[in-house]
Amino acid sequence: MTALRFDAVGAYPPTTPGVTRLRAVPAAPARLVVLVSGAGTNLQALLDAARDPEYGATVVAVGADRDDIGGLARAARAGIPTFVHRLKDHETREEWDAALTATVASYQPDLVVLAGFMKLVGPSYLSVLGGRTVNTHPALSPSFPGMHGPQEALEYGVKVTGCTLFIVDEGVDSGAIVAQTTVPVDDDDTVETLHERIKVAERAMLVEAVGRMAREGWTVDGRRVRLGC
Ligand code: GRF
Repeated sequence: MTALRFDAVGAYPPTTPGVTRLRAVPAAPARLVVLVSGAGTNLQALLDAARDPEYGATVVAVGADRDDIGGLARAARAGIPTFVHRLKDHETREEWDAALTATVASYQPDLVVLAGFMKLVGPSYLSVLGGRTVNTHPALSPSFPGMHGPQEALEYGVKVTGCTLFIVDEGVDSGAIVAQTTVPVDDDDTVETLHERIKVAERAMLVEAVGRMAREGWTVDGRRVRLGC
């Protein structure tokens, strides 16, 4: 496999809490691989932002864990290479993880963005791409991890929720936090209206934070992420 264009010191996920373990200095422009499972509105926001050379990042490939989704269609319309690794096409989850890892790594990404990607990556993936993979979650971590963040926030009765961008680790929405944005919950919200309001904030957060990571690099020190090196 080709060497990745990524200047990292240490390992991620961390083994010793509190010790500086990773510094990332992307190439210019930074190479992004985006993984999707659905409509791809977050992907579209990144594609739109990356049209400006000043943004500092370019989407070099889009991958998915399923066919026939809006996210892949958006990538195709933008002329960006796509790939699909379906879990059911592999004997084991480990094989799927290894195949996904190899394909993503073949694009030599400085940063991988899970943008509504509905699978957990595994140990193979993290051993190669850990520390340079971020995920966006439609809740304010550490509250409401998992697949139903907006629904659980609504059912709990919180007045404020939001979205979180984090460095992917082996847990569920548990990685070190890169960025968060708050979103108010309205009295008459449904899961759908709340999730739509969150997604507007999520796209803005994603574009802003990914652009800064691309242009300035990032440092992970224990659970604390700092943009700029
Ligand atoms: C986002 O809210 C993401 O956080 C969640 O699913 C949604 C994906 O939206 N996991 P899209 O596919 O980017 O439109």
